[in-house]
Amino acid sequence: MAEYETHDFDVVVIGAGGAGLRAAIEASAMGVKTALVCKSLLGKAHTVMAEGGIAAAMGNVWKEDNWKVHFRDTMRGGKLLNNWRMAQLHAQEAPDRVLELEEWGALFDRTNDGLILQRDFGGHRYARLAHVGDRTGLEMIRTLQDHAVHRGIDVFMECTLYRLLTDDGRISGAFGYWRQSGKFVLFRAKAIVLATGGVGKSWKITSNSWEYTGDGHAMALDAGADLMDMEMTQFHPTGMVWPTSVRGILVTEGVRGDGGTLKNSKGDRFMFRYVPDFFRAETADTEEEADRWYEDKRNNRRTPDLLPRDEVARAINTEVKAGRGSPHGGVFLDIASRRSSDYIKRRLPSMYHQFMELADVDITKTAMEVGPTLHYIMGGVRVDADSAQSTVPGLFAAGEVAAGMHGANRLGGNSLSDLLVFGRRAGLYAAEYAKRVPQAPRVDDRQVDAAATGMLAPFERREGGENPYAVHADLIAAMQELVGIIRTKSELEEAITRIHAMRERARRAGVTGSRIYNPGWHLALDLLTMLTVSEAVAMSALARQESRGGHTRDDYPRPDPQWGKKNVILRRRDGELSLVTEPLPEVPAELRPLIGEDKPTGKVALEPVAAAGAKE
Ligand code: FUM
Repeated sequence: MAEYETHDFDVVVIGAGGAGLRAAIEASAMGVKTALVCKSLLGKAHTVMAEGGIAAAMGNVWKEDNWKVHFRDTMRGGKLLNNWRMAQLHAQEAPDRVLELEEWGALFDRTNDGLILQRDFGGHRYARLAHVGDRTGLEMIRTLQDHAVHRGIDVFMECTLYRLLTDDGRISGAFGYWRQSGKFVLFRAKAIVLATGGVGKSWKITSNSWEYTGDGHAMALDAGADLMDMEMTQFHPTGMVWPTSVRGILVTEGVRGDGGTLKNSKGDRFMFRYVPDFFRAETADTEEEADRWYEDKRNNRRTPDLLPRDEVARAINTEVKAGRGSPHGGVFLDIASRRSSDYIKRRLPSMYHQFMELADVDITKTAMEVGPTLHYIMGGVRVDADSAQSTVPGLFAAGEVAAGMHGANRLGGNSLSDLLVFGRRAGLYAAEYAKRVPQAPRVDDRQVDAAATGMLAPFERREGGENPYAVHADLIAAMQELVGIIRTKSELEEAITRIHAMRERARRAGVTGSRIYNPGWHLALDLLTMLTVSEAVAMSALARQESRGGHTRDDYPRPDPQWGKKNVILRRRDGELSLVTEPLPEVPAELRPLIGEDKPTGKVALEPVAAAGAKE
């Protein structure tokens, strides 16, 4: 029998980024005993990487903005693969969530009239991102954290939860270990909210830090929940490319939102050549027109530098491959020639310091070198739109770990509002669910023992075991090379074959030392999680025979209207992964006109498309 300590709660929230904090606040406000468990220290979350702002149709800068336009932008940006109900709830509730954050102490930048200031971001028709310079995610975490701590929520830090436990198909708890002592811990719970964020550590170039190994995705799948549209990964167009030690660190879209432009090695503003038909109607067609837009935002059109992220990332990828990249394999992002030094330092203080300190580049004088970085996954745990409950009773999911809200591509800034809207909903409905469960669920000792035995296995291979670091290096290389921005059948098949071989190696991983703060052991366990998630992404990418949003197939370069009506679903039954497609919930007739008639039927711009104003 495994030795472990036990804690009893009504609701356990796993993950303490924006979604987790907001869920825990709501559950505790509902009067249920709530725990917040995080792998890292409280406050260290990927939420902080959403630097540029929270998208909410508050109408502070543009009176014309409202939830309907935000809904439309989100659906079109997501290439209509979104769960329409989630997109509707998100657009309707985001403004209240921002105002609530302000009531709780968040200090936003202001308009001259004293309203919350909103900035432009890709794919948003109006300037819509409430922000705090380029540190919005940080301010949001600070505010939520203060609020949660003052509510007296029990917080458990540096604790990795590794297996969800079920009783007759319902959630009964979660089992894991303290990172410092290596001792096991069991949380018995009536309901669990997964808010574990993303999966970036399976790729070589990523904005994600060490925590983002897809724990929630893998635990949910193993507990019987459905994963949906895992092929939909987002490469943020602008990560740092140099020095190599900081490659992948985010350069906020706020740089382009505040006037920055992308250029190739010839000084060409290449984005003018990549505007897909779907967006042409509302995008400036010439450089002069885009310039006018910056000066006079009333014409309501967009510069192509602010196309949705999937479009911009693909364009940069093409420019670099065509030999028109910057010296370190990216492109140039120039704000210095458009904005004063004072403006840049005031609006983008973190970017100024980031480049100064990490790359010795003064962005008020010199262009930055940037390139795509794996930033986010739109796919994840399939949830009910209103309650955030997964297909397993008692298991809820919110934020990046949940699927549906962003469809095939997330618009920048929609992550922070997503965390607030669906974090709150997950906490609310998890608490209501827990109140309906009459007694503490039964924990099955066999499930706990099996988890503990598996987790300790690497210590039994102190000699001759596989090195987990070597397997991880191979995994990130394979995912970067074979499951990257542009995908093909043969490469995806190759990725799956390699992942299977790596799983065999990971099962033989050996570690030395003790259980006390042992990063090799932690990685050996995380590796199995990452391999599960990576296989889910590669399998789903192989299944979806079209290009849409964050998923681009070289062999199927067009969006296919039939595939546009389907979600790709993965589930595990009796240990085996199975993949099916299921019809997307149909958008109700009254919302259809909001989205507009345009369908994303044009060829995805793998190559530059001819456009008025194109300059070589
Ligand atoms: O570019 C950014 O500031 C990131 C925002 C986001 O991912 O929503």
